[in-house]
Amino acid sequence: MKSINVGIDLGTTYSAVAVFDAATGRVDILKNDIGEEITPSVVYMENGETLIGQEAKDQQAAGNVNTCAFYKSMMGDENFVRYLDGKPFDAEGLSCVFLSKLKAAVEKQNGVSITGAVITVPAYFNEAQRQATIHAGEKAGFKVLKIINEPTAAIIAYGLTGGGKKTAMVYDLGGGTFDVTIAKIDGAQVDVIATNGDHQLGGRNWDKVLVDEIVDRFEQEFGVDISANKEDYTELVVRCEKAKKQLTSVAATDITVRSEGYTGKYTVTREEFEDKTKRLMAETIMLTEKCFEELGGGFGWHSVDEIVLVGGSTRMPQVFDTIQRKFGKAPKTIGGKVDTIVAAGAAMQAHLCVAGSITLTPTGGGMQAAQFGGGAGGPVSLTISSSSIRDVTSHSLGMLAFAGDGASIINSIIIKKNSMVGKPYSKRYTFAGEQLEAYVLQGESSSPYDCTLLYKYVISGMKKGVKNEFTIDFLYDQNGVVQVTGKLASGTPLKVNKSTVSESVSEVIDRLLREKEEAKKRAKVDITFAIDTSGSMSGTPINEAKRSILEFVSQLGDAADKVSLIGFANSSTWLCRDDAPRAIEKAVHKLDADGGTNADPLEYYGKAKGSGDGRILIVLTDGEWFRKDDAIRSSDVLKGSGVTIYAIGVGDADYRFLERIASPGGAKKIDLRQLVETFKEIADTIATEASAAGSYTSLG
Ligand SMILES: Nc1ncnc2c1ncn2[C@@H]1O[C@H](COP(=O)(O)OP(=O)(O)OP(=O)(O)O)[C@@H](O)[C@H]1O
Ligand SMILES: [Mg+2]
Repeated sequence: MKSINVGIDLGTTYSAVAVFDAATGRVDILKNDIGEEITPSVVYMENGETLIGQEAKDQQAAGNVNTCAFYKSMMGDENFVRYLDGKPFDAEGLSCVFLSKLKAAVEKQNGVSITGAVITVPAYFNEAQRQATIHAGEKAGFKVLKIINEPTAAIIAYGLTGGGKKTAMVYDLGGGTFDVTIAKIDGAQVDVIATNGDHQLGGRNWDKVLVDEIVDRFEQEFGVDISANKEDYTELVVRCEKAKKQLTSVAATDITVRSEGYTGKYTVTREEFEDKTKRLMAETIMLTEKCFEELGGGFGWHSVDEIVLVGGSTRMPQVFDTIQRKFGKAPKTIGGKVDTIVAAGAAMQAHLCVAGSITLTPTGGGMQAAQFGGGAGGPVSLTISSSSIRDVTSHSLGMLAFAGDGASIINSIIIKKNSMVGKPYSKRYTFAGEQLEAYVLQGESSSPYDCTLLYKYVISGMKKGVKNEFTIDFLYDQNGVVQVTGKLASGTPLKVNKSTVSESVSEVIDRLLREKEEAKKRAKVDITFAIDTSGSMSGTPINEAKRSILEFVSQLGDAADKVSLIGFANSSTWLCRDDAPRAIEKAVHKLDADGGTNADPLEYYGKAKGSGDGRILIVLTDGEWFRKDDAIRSSDVLKGSGVTIYAIGVGDADYRFLERIASPGGAKKIDLRQLVETFKEIADTIATEASAAGSYTSLG
């Protein structure tokens, strides 16, 4: 049996499957088991029997409540559940049932076996909706080659110019979603530049206007509320969709309804219908103009060369008329192919995924890909490669970040809406902790409350107590799905652990603010300087040390609440102890160099301060110590009790010894001239660590 890769338009109301045949350069729409090119996306389940498509839709039309339609609009919604045949299904589960049955039907009818599939989604689908579509496809037994945006698929099948250049806009009004997409097309190169839409706006909203109207009229006439009776209501919904379609070609139609023994017959005219649905039409125009606005640079209707109407709902005369009025020219319609063009583009993309390129020739029978269009460049052969089609993101990607005032949290946007997908956006950070958390959101507002919280990433692999420099790469992959990776400045990859968040945005924000407050209290640092005052430090070294300490304290600001100073040579002395930062100024003047280095300031420090986390000891020395082994032992005790030790060497200091007594990464051997700078860096690291709220930092 022939094994094929297909394109699937998984629509809210109707779905289609297509295949590209490289031998003929043709796209064929694959018929289902009853010989139809489009299959209603309806699922029926009762008494262990599962039906999809027309049979399921017939059940729905007969008022059978064991049917489910329009589940696509609930994709990715974890609160949506439908019971069919006693079993609970979410939208992903229903899509999976539908897709596996559709796969079997198409395979049977065409004598093929389907392996891979490109599945289309509305451009405006967000992360959860894309992920749910991928999972549904995989569980239905497809290798999901790629997820592509429906309007982009339409452009692939329709819009290639064969040499010419144009700016094209796809206005896609389907059963449940509205998408507007603008692309620059140059020969076989398609660059989507902007997209906008609403995944809860489509033909079903037009149906609903009729349904509500009839429910009202019936109630007025008989005092009976049809919407209270599930079976009658289900039937009415199907009846109204039919009436809506009739109004596309006739000026008036009758809708007959029965409920509770009453029968009502109501006439609806196209004029009335158009009037009642005006606001829906206006909504699509508003979203279109918003898309122009987001492009900036005065982009408007005049900037577009061609508008293509896609989606079954664009058959409604009001769509054509409104667009023509706004555009000043007639939009292009693709007549009979309006329901299958998206699947055709997806089929071409599927071939592109497996073969790397595809060549379209201008002549040939059937649904030749190029025949969808009639592009400006005329009938020439075209080769499309994988890089020929570049799409953009429909939602901005951001991260929770502390606002400048540190007292509130904002959505800091990292990847702007309409940025190219497949390209990583890198951000550089410094952080003094071992691991941090990042909360990633989708949405356009700087207020996180208006955005969708996607995931929490725990990024680890950094060193504690040192200023880690690293970059994080944020990426919308080719499926429009978010990926986050990180690496240290050294190139070592960081560990990134992704999880979903069970808390709401406001719960997360309240917790982060609380944690930051607590961390701030905790993070008050207790700093001790131990300065070598042996004879060799006299003159410039001791003066530089004094200057460095003063700079350090002023740099640290309110992160430090206790400072102490030890001078050590042949013995150690507290020059100030646990004082307010201001007191250090007086104490440093007492630093006076004389004698050898016979003291162990580490032991001296430990005896007086006892144990306790969060203390910092900064040792500065310029030469050999007599009691090195004692100092090493003392340092181990201190580190074990939670003290962070920095050991800075100048002059003849022994770096290996410094390394041994310092905390990891805390030893430095420097030139005296670098002393002020080095102390500043340490202060910076400490301040960063102190201001980080728990393990969460304001990365944005
Ligand atoms: N002649 C017609 N007049 C008016 N509406 C029509 C007509 N034919 C189809 N429709 C409407 O078009 C919609 C289906 O279009 P289409 O198949 O493009 O959508 P879909 O792919 O199922 O949905 P989506 O793209 O939103 O997921 C339905 O709402 C249907 O009622
Ligand atoms: Mg569609």
